[in-house]
Amino acid sequence: MMFGNPLFAQIIDSALAQSSFPAKPENLYQPIAYILSLAGKRIRPQLVLLGADLFGYKNIEAAVPAALAIEYFHNFSLIHDDIMDKAPIRRGKATVHQHWNDSVAILSGDALLVKAYEQLSNCPVNTIAPLLKTFNRIALEVCEGQQLDMDFELEEQVTEAQYIEMIRLKTSVLLGGALALGAIIADADVEEREKINAFGVNLGIAFQLQDDILDAYGNPDTFGKQVGGDILVNKKTILHILLKRVLDAADRPKFDALLALKNEEGDRKVQGMKELYNAYAVRELAEALKEQYMVKAYQYLADVTVEEGRKTDLYQLADTLMHRAR
Ligand code: IPE
Ligand code: IPE
Ligand code: MG
Ligand code: MG
Ligand code: MG
Repeated sequence: MMFGNPLFAQIIDSALAQSSFPAKPENLYQPIAYILSLAGKRIRPQLVLLGADLFGYKNIEAAVPAALAIEYFHNFSLIHDDIMDKAPIRRGKATVHQHWNDSVAILSGDALLVKAYEQLSNCPVNTIAPLLKTFNRIALEVCEGQQLDMDFELEEQVTEAQYIEMIRLKTSVLLGGALALGAIIADADVEEREKINAFGVNLGIAFQLQDDILDAYGNPDTFGKQVGGDILVNKKTILHILLKRVLDAADRPKFDALLALKNEEGDRKVQGMKELYNAYAVRELAEALKEQYMVKAYQYLADVTVEEGRKTDLYQLADTLMHRAR
């Protein structure tokens, strides 16, 4: 399935396919070529191009380096995230640390982060300073969110508000920031940039809620990641938090026993936790919350002061993302 504007998708695919890396050391550069070649949705570079296009920017080729920078950064974060989350599969293939090893995944991830900054240096020269400022803010916020996500694995009580703030940082600011980079390249007014950023941030929260839902309920044939991975590591996902809120005292021992199960009993852990999710209709609660953030996102998009017709691609992309299977 293709995501976003077909012409932009094709521009991004071919720019990624042309990304070339030195042949040696193989264990540094092959993992980078590998992860970039896998079939990601590539929505963040789309958002850069759509953000520029929204504000009437015509020279789309000039926005491609910023789009690549965002996708490189995203892939760097995934290589490291998969070590942190003990994830074996990404985009239907072995994760980098699984295919090579942790050391290779750490260093090739670092190198890919540098390649992201190299792309930023290729942007139109008058835009580089403001692009860097936004990019650096996002990059640090993603790190902050990732640390909170890891801290929460070990914490017993995480509130919905703490969770939303954690996903705003680890996921949403990158979607909002991708649009903001496009708006900067198009020289949009600051207020308009803030509205499109807020659209992306709220879309990003809904996107991570959907990601949490898919982690438990995705179809293993199409999802591209290990189904139940979040349950295995006691991740404080929205499903976990909502279940804990509505759980009867009588089911509490079962819940606690499942959390204490080790990886050797992974299948039992995932199955048992999903039984509880189902018994309390937690998925439906999460879907309703996701819907609230979509409504907020659409309000910000509606407020952007450009001709309505220019917004069609963004409305469509947002809609596709909320109903995605991967
Ligand atoms: C995965 O992002 C990380 C999250 C923030 C949930 P995507 O779901 O966009 O992953 P790819 O790039 O399409 O594989
Ligand atoms: C990912 O969150 C956020 C970042 C990589 C920064 P997840 O850990 O939920 O992403 P997936 O599910 O592994 O793609
Ligand atoms: Mg993670
Ligand atoms: Mg992960
Ligand atoms: Mg996830």
